[in-house]
Amino acid sequence: MPLKTINPTTTKAWSKLEEHFNTIKDVQMKEWFNADEQRADNFTIKWEDFYVDYSKNRITQETIELFKELAEEVDLKDAISKYFSGDKINKTEDRAVLHTALRAKETDSVFVEGKNVIPEIYQVKQKIKVFTNQIIGGSSKGFSGKPFTDIVNIGIGGSDLGPAMVVDSLQFYKNHLTTHFVSNIDGDHVNEILKKLNPETTLFVIVSKTFTTQETLSNANTIKEWLLKSASKQDIAKHFVAVSTNIEKVKGFGIEEENIFPMWDWVGGRFSLWSAVGLSISLSIGYNNFESLLAGAHKMDMHFKNEAYDKNIPVLLAFISIWYNNFFKAESEAVIPYSQYLNQFTTYLQQAIMESNGKSIDRNGEATDYQTGTIIWGEPGTNSQHAFFQLIHQGTKLIPADFIGFAKSLYGNKDHQDKLMSNFFAQTEALLNGKTRENVISEMKDLNLSEENNNQIPFKVFEGNNPTNTIFIEKLTPESLGKLIVMYEHKIFVQGVIWNIYSYDQFGVELGKQLAGKILKELNNTSIGNHDSSTLNLLKYYRNLT
Ligand code: F6P
Repeated sequence: MPLKTINPTTTKAWSKLEEHFNTIKDVQMKEWFNADEQRADNFTIKWEDFYVDYSKNRITQETIELFKELAEEVDLKDAISKYFSGDKINKTEDRAVLHTALRAKETDSVFVEGKNVIPEIYQVKQKIKVFTNQIIGGSSKGFSGKPFTDIVNIGIGGSDLGPAMVVDSLQFYKNHLTTHFVSNIDGDHVNEILKKLNPETTLFVIVSKTFTTQETLSNANTIKEWLLKSASKQDIAKHFVAVSTNIEKVKGFGIEEENIFPMWDWVGGRFSLWSAVGLSISLSIGYNNFESLLAGAHKMDMHFKNEAYDKNIPVLLAFISIWYNNFFKAESEAVIPYSQYLNQFTTYLQQAIMESNGKSIDRNGEATDYQTGTIIWGEPGTNSQHAFFQLIHQGTKLIPADFIGFAKSLYGNKDHQDKLMSNFFAQTEALLNGKTRENVISEMKDLNLSEENNNQIPFKVFEGNNPTNTIFIEKLTPESLGKLIVMYEHKIFVQGVIWNIYSYDQFGVELGKQLAGKILKELNNTSIGNHDSSTLNLLKYYRNLT
């Protein structure tokens, strides 16, 4: 049975939310904090090693209650149950959406078209484990008999961003293997990577769900040619493995059947790092750590599936995000991890969130008359404080932000950690309270600044009232990272359900691909086809230069 197809703006709850918005839109959050000592406690969820404080938001208990009513009206509960049980909720592609099954327990059963998929998932996990141990342990060797030193993941989009982000985030847990990622069709990218590699000791993992992606296949072919300069054709089997649903195409590339790690069409590319797409993760940090990542993911799955909405982290974060997107008309959301390890986290989220919910046609096939997908951006703190925080503090735009921090540093340098954390805490406090004109004047007096400086006063005022969520985690581990990623996966799901859109297709990426295919042929033809005059000029200019 399909998901309910209700325009959220036609619900009773939405009208009530609009009224409620008008009554609280101008309230300063700090007034609520002053009036209610319990506010932080009431709007904090402590779950496992997560401490999620959402009190610094422009919400009251009534906001949450009204969103719960909205969730009832759109039948979120039913949607969650269909999501986990393998219903074909990706209706436009006629597929189930079962990345949750990839981290389910071996004893669980999840059915797709009458077949329990868990045994197959565990067979592939076993294959990943055995292969990982052979490569890390050195029993599997390259063509000249040397053990592998380098792994190259060849993939793009979901076949790159998830594994690349996790490998980078968990580099503290890495073994001796060096992992590289080739994604872009830009030939300079692949050449810069190849420059660092020894063909004798490099293993290539081609990751492509479809095995038709131009970037991935071009890079894989270039790399194969590079390898064949020092190795023979039969050595390809030793140096290339692939992860794909398209077994025939992989075999056509020259990869042995035993070196193919299967995946399934019910796993979306941007949610696939939990499958064999995460092979480079397992190779980098070892299979046990990969398992811990999955175990964390499963715990968050269970939290999301079973917890009441007002204690449910992904659900609450989704409500809050919709509140700003659709009522306050915020144009974007920032994600600011206070950990350099999470340097690639926001880039990863950009695909997960924007490829999923960047849709303007609803589940009835009608154009939405309300805003959907949020624009996500961000960089780690404290670097970002010295880059774009000026705009968040004093610009004209409302930018809700998630602050993600880890209480314990991995190397245990307390001096640095205290400084990092003091910034982490200070920023959300500053964004909440701002600085009034009176504060500025009294600070100036304290500094004995003369009256001549009075003209600076307006520039030093901070309006404050900028919303933030604090996602505070004990320590960065494979397990906690698994939980964090899944927290966002389910936030995406809830938002898609409420916005009445299909979150699991991505037709929006096709048009550009089609045109690029046509233009590629024209670049080498004598005649150029029909184009607008701007594109035509660009093509001619390029052809003259090359
Ligand atoms: O960008 C579109 C897309 O289809 C993504 O959804 C996907 O993650 C990526 O391309 C790569 O696709 P594949 O794994 O099939 O090579």
